[in-house]
Amino acid sequence: MTSETNTVAVALPTRRERRRPTRKGKTYFIRTFGCQMNEHDSERIAGLLEADGMTAVGSVGAADLVVLNTCAIRENADNRLYGNLGHLKADKDERPALQIAVGGCLAQKDRNVVRDRAPWVDVVFGTHNIDRLVSLLDQADEWGPVTEILEESAAVPELPAKRDDPHRAWVTIMIGCNNSCTFCIVPALRGAEMSRRPSDVLSEVRRLVADGVVEVTLLGQNVNSYGRDLDLGGRKPLFADLLRQVGSVDGLERVFYTSPHPKDFNRDVAEAMAETRAVCEHLHLPLQSGSDRILAAMHRGYNAERFLGKVEMAREVYPGIALTTDIIVGFPGETDDDFQATLDVVAAARFDSAFTFIYSSRPGTAAADMVDEFVDPGVVRERYLKLTELQDEIAFEKNQAVVGQSLQLLSSGPSRKDEAVTSGRSRTNKTVNVAGTVPAGQLFDAVVTVAHPHHLTGRLV
Ligand code: SAH
Ligand code: SF4
Ligand code: F3S
Repeated sequence: MTSETNTVAVALPTRRERRRPTRKGKTYFIRTFGCQMNEHDSERIAGLLEADGMTAVGSVGAADLVVLNTCAIRENADNRLYGNLGHLKADKDERPALQIAVGGCLAQKDRNVVRDRAPWVDVVFGTHNIDRLVSLLDQADEWGPVTEILEESAAVPELPAKRDDPHRAWVTIMIGCNNSCTFCIVPALRGAEMSRRPSDVLSEVRRLVADGVVEVTLLGQNVNSYGRDLDLGGRKPLFADLLRQVGSVDGLERVFYTSPHPKDFNRDVAEAMAETRAVCEHLHLPLQSGSDRILAAMHRGYNAERFLGKVEMAREVYPGIALTTDIIVGFPGETDDDFQATLDVVAAARFDSAFTFIYSSRPGTAAADMVDEFVDPGVVRERYLKLTELQDEIAFEKNQAVVGQSLQLLSSGPSRKDEAVTSGRSRTNKTVNVAGTVPAGQLFDAVVTVAHPHHLTGRLV
């Protein structure tokens, strides 16, 4: 090799250096579908884009880049994405420089479908390579549309998040799910469970508190398996330990978490909650069904009696704890008797609120093959209405029971409907609207004056 060619070779910049336009001055808009994990991923996407010089805008029309962070949990999530992409085509036709990126769970699942149905999308990326987004956008700028989906994460990503709320933050403690609930697509999209080391979780929480955060929500698909994949010198950290440690961080006022799995939720965790001042009186315990037969077909690993036993234990160990849940109506093979069993458990458990879903068949899941047992949509609809009616009644009664009580609230600032009203959230995760102004992020006390089915009205103390 001559020195001349050598010089040329050395002078040749890498692709990255050749085109390293920070996107300074450009704007982005992110639309997020799905659960808290996705909301938090969107904050990390925003963090990456801001680090590249971009600024957020509130609408597609004002954006140079639109990112759709998608969800695939139910079929209507799919339909919403394709509707959105149709609208974006018109924007792209008008402004060819507009970049469109589709990421998240549906992109992970439908990678090629997204590309085929919406060839105008510049970047398709998945749940395991969020950190690659800026690089993929560069690549698309240079060489045209790109799809990159990885099958698993190398580690729990440590990415800076750009938070919209300066006082409340999500903290990922683990990613993935090792369960095999037969209705659920999440394990196929989010991979195997991987826990973050407790020291990493704690240093993030301390950093957040130093930044002004007073409330954190710990995130994982199945937080009770936290730490099972870690080895800290022969010892596995437990979720209960983590709760105690996070809840003891100086300056942190509130800790919530989601979701525990009823089969693994135990007294140790309930005690950690009760003993740790900052851990709030709220437990989201997804029931899914009250029928033992259906629970078995769902592979949930508990029956109605065990579930109700855990509810009772939680209330005994942590008095005043509020309970919320998820319920699916119309799982394949669900009979009137099975559905009645769900109503019975709902009546017995008396949840403060419930997210109720109509079963949606997800190709690739075990339940999707139970086609012969699919329940008539009209019947499912009727059951769904009956269930929400019962749950609404219970929720209203539970709210009525706190009228007259004083609650500690964290202000979210002025309510959406009325500037003169402050919207606060209780440690039981209920929304309480109070006349008067309390700056966002401040804790204050209010007496509950009126109960509504889904929120409360209070008076400043
Ligand atoms: N990991 C969480 C659940 C995440 S998905 C947990 O186990 O608690 C959130 C909720 O969506 C589930 O609890 C379930 O009620 C609902 N869901 C999941 N798959 C569904 C499907 N195929 N059809 C309808 N609802 C579904
Ligand atoms: Fe899905 Fe079950 Fe895992 Fe929850 S625990 S994410 S419902 S497979
Ligand atoms: Fe969440 Fe939807 Fe994915 S519920 S984990 S964003 S499929």
